[in-house]
Amino acid sequence: VVDVQTLYKQTGMFTYDPGFTSTASCRSAITYIDGEAGVLLYRGYPIEQLAEKCSFLEVCYLLLEAELPNADELKTFEKEVTTHTMVHDQLTNFFKGFRRDAHPMAIMVGVVGALSAFYHDSLDIHSPKDRHISAIRLIAKVPTIVAMCYKYSVGSPFMYPQNKLKYVDNFLRMMHATPCAEYEPNPVLVRALDRILILHADHEQNASTSTVRLAGSSGANPFACITAGIACLWGSAHGGANEAALNMLKEIGDVSQIPIYIAKAKDKNDSFRLMGFGHRVYKNYDPRAKLMRETCHEVLTELGLHDDPLFKLALELERIALEDEYFVSKKLYPNVDFYSGIVLHALGIPSNMFTAIFAMGRTVGWISHWDEMISDPEQKIGRPRQLYTGAVRRDVPDRW
Ligand code: ACO
Repeated sequence: VVDVQTLYKQTGMFTYDPGFTSTASCRSAITYIDGEAGVLLYRGYPIEQLAEKCSFLEVCYLLLEAELPNADELKTFEKEVTTHTMVHDQLTNFFKGFRRDAHPMAIMVGVVGALSAFYHDSLDIHSPKDRHISAIRLIAKVPTIVAMCYKYSVGSPFMYPQNKLKYVDNFLRMMHATPCAEYEPNPVLVRALDRILILHADHEQNASTSTVRLAGSSGANPFACITAGIACLWGSAHGGANEAALNMLKEIGDVSQIPIYIAKAKDKNDSFRLMGFGHRVYKNYDPRAKLMRETCHEVLTELGLHDDPLFKLALELERIALEDEYFVSKKLYPNVDFYSGIVLHALGIPSNMFTAIFAMGRTVGWISHWDEMISDPEQKIGRPRQLYTGAVRRDVPDRW
């Protein structure tokens, strides 16, 4: 590891690293990834153990507080989150300004961004108390907003959260119940969504988290910073990949068409990529994809959908790609988004909501990084350098 700051001070030399492939932008004690070995740890705990033994809210506590909660701490934390799930009634009017057919992520950017206009009382970023309450508000309210985006898009009345319900049950009810019909959550499906949220909760300095940190480094408020993260997540090379992967499977349509799409993905003159494949850091099987694959089996078995053509297609695509010289040599394995799209589809969630659900899981990671950054005495405003490639100095001709 080279300390380029010292190098810069001593020699004026700086590094050119487009896409930050080999530059650490910060120090962090939250998440560790070994991309070669396929290892992912949150605060030192392996993702496999967290996915098996913990609930999403326990993982939220872990990411925020650096330790797993004991029973009392968890109870207090759950209560705190639950009591903040409602959004200000005035915020419901905000939705009406959007077209019904707007993408849910477009609405999310607007509505989550508007939260700072409602919660002025917690915007002192140097106050640990304010930072804590903002974190709780975001973790609690983002699912309510995601469900409202969905209800708005289908023209159905908003369903208010119910504080007696657990986090994921509450979300699924807000999505699927109507004033005329209650929704009985299936425990297998609840657990599957809980696991999706755990697997998406953090992933160190990915594009959206880095965006949150960069926005926050100027002193911007947490609601504004998380909104910047949501906007970045939307891109198809990042959180938009789960929606894109499902759309790709639908477009492929049939196992017989797979070779055509594999050939397209390998063709350098074709911009098509296999969505849900490849990762900047994992050059081995993404450990989250392994867990998601298992969850996918559990959900399809529970729902009796094992003959689901989309799932069969996904398995066959994975098998063919993993045996293909191009994908093997470039170490392109399925990533978490490859299977999460199928699980969400089986849960009855429309594909345009997938990235919003990713945002719901990632909110805790974003806010944990934001908090860690603000608390770091070495933190400075993020200000990348550039390699200027424009014109050399020249004079404006006299005719002007
Ligand atoms: N299909 C076909 N070829 C691919 C794919 C793919 N999915 N991903 C990478 N490649 C190829 C590239 O064409 C490139 O080939 P080259 O060396 O001959 O030029 C090589 O593999 C390396 O690709 P890069 O784009 O340089 O890798 P990078 O680390 O920048 O990108 C990324 C990683 C963006 C995830 C990429 O693999 C991709 O676009 N995948 C599809 C989108 C996706 O699934 N994104 C989700 C990421 S995970 C997440 O956000 C939770």
